[in-house]
Amino acid sequence: MSKIATLEIDGNKYEFPIVEGTENELGIDIKTLRGATGGVTTIDPGYKNTGSCESAITFLDGEKGILRYRGYSIEELAEKADFLEVAYLLIFGELPTAEQLEKFDKDIKEESQVDEDMKKILDGFPKSAHPMGVLSSLTSALIAFNPGSVDVDSEEEMYGAIVKILAKFPVLAAWTMRKRKSLPLDYGDNSLGYVENLHKMMFAKPNQAYESNKLVIDALDKLLILHADHEQNCSTSTVRIVGSSHAGLFASLSAGISALWGPLHGGANQAVIEMLEAIKADGGDTAKYIAKAKDKNDPFRLMGFGHRVYKNFDPRAKIIKKSAEEVLGDLGIEDPVLDIAKGLADVALKDEYFVQRKLYPNVDFYSGIIYRALGIPTEMFTVMFALGRLPGWIAQWREMRLRKEPIGRPRQIYVGENHRAFKTVSER
Ligand code: CMC
Repeated sequence: MSKIATLEIDGNKYEFPIVEGTENELGIDIKTLRGATGGVTTIDPGYKNTGSCESAITFLDGEKGILRYRGYSIEELAEKADFLEVAYLLIFGELPTAEQLEKFDKDIKEESQVDEDMKKILDGFPKSAHPMGVLSSLTSALIAFNPGSVDVDSEEEMYGAIVKILAKFPVLAAWTMRKRKSLPLDYGDNSLGYVENLHKMMFAKPNQAYESNKLVIDALDKLLILHADHEQNCSTSTVRIVGSSHAGLFASLSAGISALWGPLHGGANQAVIEMLEAIKADGGDTAKYIAKAKDKNDPFRLMGFGHRVYKNFDPRAKIIKKSAEEVLGDLGIEDPVLDIAKGLADVALKDEYFVQRKLYPNVDFYSGIIYRALGIPTEMFTVMFALGRLPGWIAQWREMRLRKEPIGRPRQIYVGENHRAFKTVSER
């Protein structure tokens, strides 16, 4: 039997249906609230209690620490799938057959050229520009080179736009790094796999043959899978809301990249390494930094800790911690920062403040340590996150358009001045 929620305001009762998800999550459907009550709205800053949509892409249980893409557990996907398969799964709903995967790969390769004039735009940025700002701008600039709007009712046009951005995005991401390093831009090599080619585009030297390293490529592939989607987080909600105005896919993605950049979201991976380095430079006193994080008069937060949804271990952090130990071991790297990270986590996980607030290490806590071991510069960490999140953003944008969702436009409760008469300058 369907469930009903009853709301009482000033003695008047209103009933609202309760929507039930396939994992038994309940949501009060308040679509008729304003109409029925004569304009009463809800208020929920940060949307901590608000479901913005129904979605069939990613399931997350923050209490139990469960994450699944289209029903498949993140642990299994990270172990058995490759990034392109996961991208296909997220976007189109099913794991690809061998033929579908081959076609997907081929179609992406067909589109992996970027207009030469894009280089002029890249040239205009100072070398010191943060790669996330450059990537967001270049993604937006792609619109000018691909101006035709996509008919979202045409499966073929939708597929074409998706393949185009999956192809060009790694080129642009790699270019942001090469520009900073004063390396000539590279278009990669279409005989390589998606992640291997990304690695080549980032690291190939103009006067040396590119040498691939399976260990490095596998680690990168796994990291990209772990970042590929995370339901209605800040950047994904941004992509959906920008797309809901019928702005195109590339414009929506560019906005998502900007949202991801912030240190409370994807930018945390850069902030974590900077924090760990600062602790190391300060003598490695983890207790001091735990105390700072707990001090309400100190703005310092333990970066890479806490999550809006996870009130248990972030399953991605568990996989990444294990992977960090393996990658560093296999590459023979000893990074004192890993010991500082483990020390911090050990203390925090037993500390009353963190235990009470259910603050656990999140995906960003250990990822930077692997990125660093793989030779990726710190300011590129969030770009790596964006590369991983791209299929998730695309899947969510596609779902939102196919479901013909209305434009995103929240309400507010106005708390400003009441009507007042204008005063000329001499009267003020
Ligand atoms: N260090 C110290 N205290 C914290 C932390 C932290 N990292 N995170 C949350 N708290 C405290 C917070 O001060 C608050 O305490 P009180 O109840 O006494 O006021 C309580 O825990 C709840 O925190 P909140 O800020 O209300 O929780 P939120 O859901 O709004 O924020 C968060 C979630 C991820 C923004 C936050 O935990 C945070 O700032 N973490 C550090 C940044 C970070 O690692 N971000 C990456 C998130 S995961 C990947 C991603 O989204 O990209």
